[in-house]
Amino acid sequence: MNTALLLAAAATAINFMECPKCDKRFRIAEDGQSATVNLCRLNGEGRDVLAARAEKYLKMGHKRASGDPRCPLMGWSSWNTFALNISEEIILGVAQAMATNGLKEAGYLYVNIDDGFFYGHDENGRLRWHPQRFPNGMKGTVDGIHALGLKAGTYSDAGANTCGSGNGKGDPGGVGAGLYGHDAADCRLHFNEMGFDFIKVDYCGGRYQHLDERVRYTEIANAIKATGRSDVRFNICRWAFPGTWAADIAESWRTTYDIRASWKAVHTIIGENLYLSAYAKPGHFNDMDMLEVDRIAGTFTPTFGHGTFGGDTGLTRDEETTHFGLWCILSSPLLIGCDPRSMSAESLKLVTNPYLLAMNQNDLGLQAYIAHRDGTAYMFVKDADLLFGKSRYVALYNSGDTECEFKVCAKDLDLGGRIDVFDLVERADPGPFQDVVSVKVAPHASKFYRFDAEKRLEREIYEAETAFLTDYQELKPAKDAGTAYYEEVKGTSGGVAVRQLGNRETNDMIFRNVNVLKAGTRTLEFRCRTGEDRTFLVQVDGEKPQRLAVANTQGKYVDVKLAVAFKAGVHEVRVFNPFAYTPDFDFMRLVP
Ligand code: GLA
Repeated sequence: MNTALLLAAAATAINFMECPKCDKRFRIAEDGQSATVNLCRLNGEGRDVLAARAEKYLKMGHKRASGDPRCPLMGWSSWNTFALNISEEIILGVAQAMATNGLKEAGYLYVNIDDGFFYGHDENGRLRWHPQRFPNGMKGTVDGIHALGLKAGTYSDAGANTCGSGNGKGDPGGVGAGLYGHDAADCRLHFNEMGFDFIKVDYCGGRYQHLDERVRYTEIANAIKATGRSDVRFNICRWAFPGTWAADIAESWRTTYDIRASWKAVHTIIGENLYLSAYAKPGHFNDMDMLEVDRIAGTFTPTFGHGTFGGDTGLTRDEETTHFGLWCILSSPLLIGCDPRSMSAESLKLVTNPYLLAMNQNDLGLQAYIAHRDGTAYMFVKDADLLFGKSRYVALYNSGDTECEFKVCAKDLDLGGRIDVFDLVERADPGPFQDVVSVKVAPHASKFYRFDAEKRLEREIYEAETAFLTDYQELKPAKDAGTAYYEEVKGTSGGVAVRQLGNRETNDMIFRNVNVLKAGTRTLEFRCRTGEDRTFLVQVDGEKPQRLAVANTQGKYVDVKLAVAFKAGVHEVRVFNPFAYTPDFDFMRLVP
């Protein structure tokens, strides 16, 4: 059971109709108050069976996110629309809109004030509020947000200057406004005096001063703890996966440069988060940046555009759905970046879709991984209510520029028998399948489903790119840091291999959640490649490691086998070598 969602109100009517032309078995009404079952699509089942299934989904649509800290943060951030031009009036106006337009009800609770609200520190080291933007100080704004039943977020930098300050070349208010030298006093001011509930800590000042990320962010985490507030949620904004240490101190960490309202930005950000699933866990998530929803090409005036991805060219409706749905299934924080005071009904409907949100607001804390890839067609999967249960969320993402036909194989999803399907965006059941089904997906579009299967099968292929690499980081080039990395390699399964593993104890690869259904001696096959004779160690559940030698494979991938006696249940398989590099790995196979 996903306990992160609360039932808002009892679900109601099931209607019946006969529509030979309709291809859906049942559909949930737009207002979520009723479901209509199509008696022409019973497929040999009793009408009661289908009605019960329709009712289950109708009820599911009444569940609401509750702000559970095990789930990604939901809310709004000022930056994408307003940049530095913020004020008490804007922030409270947005909060008011969120409290009344359905956003708060759907679980968007955080109103995050980004860069621009401060004016350096005074001679006593007290942070000053910007005299024009917040002439009344900050307390009234935070109290006003709280009075609406919402939470308030603040912003700073790990260094002395914030990003908007341009380190002296931009907004003067951001110069010397960062946390550097002020950790304790600023944290007391933000969390005890003002009552903020969240902080995003940027790194423009930190980078300028060549500070060490791990040291600085740990100091800041400790200063937050020292305020006595254990409910403050902390975001590291270092624009690249910082390292697995981030999950020990923060609830989310930015993995890329700033998003823009363009397919180029959305597509690139998804690309940079494809292989980070192992680093998410309940309460700790990869942050794909704020949402550029409601920026449909041709319907808005681009606000400003700079940085890595250029200007705001806008998205198509398909691209917007891909953007939001993938942020949901990949368990990114969901921070709306448009202006909630004037949001279009279509975008509001998308971001409050309870079925998409249930993928994100899930106490299992899972980020979907790629179960199958064919060129630019990606199939993601993650468990729905129970680890290793029979219900799974599936996304079919066509990142390419032409229509694509997905062949969805149940086996790739570790599912078997009859599979019932619910389309989360259409809010309808397109009918069941067994073994394989074809689905056409338009360019840049995605389909999002919940599959309810008869059987959960044992996973056979554990792609190296879905494993936890303890030393994985993106702050320094992997070659210089000597840390493992993912690389596109032609001919490998999933198109990606893990390279540069080993040579120190912690530069290892761990497959967590290896679920063995039946006890017995089983074979683990490691598909790997090396240009010289190398060895690696395999350790199961922390027991004595087994050493495996691999002679130069002359550029080819080979299978190296190990017999392991497994008890039924969940196991951890660790691959490592403290003293020398291991071969490169494509995947591990648990031979059925
Ligand atoms: C950086 C961050 C953005 C935003 C701006 C504010 O660029 O990555 O998300 O906070 O700073 O200046």
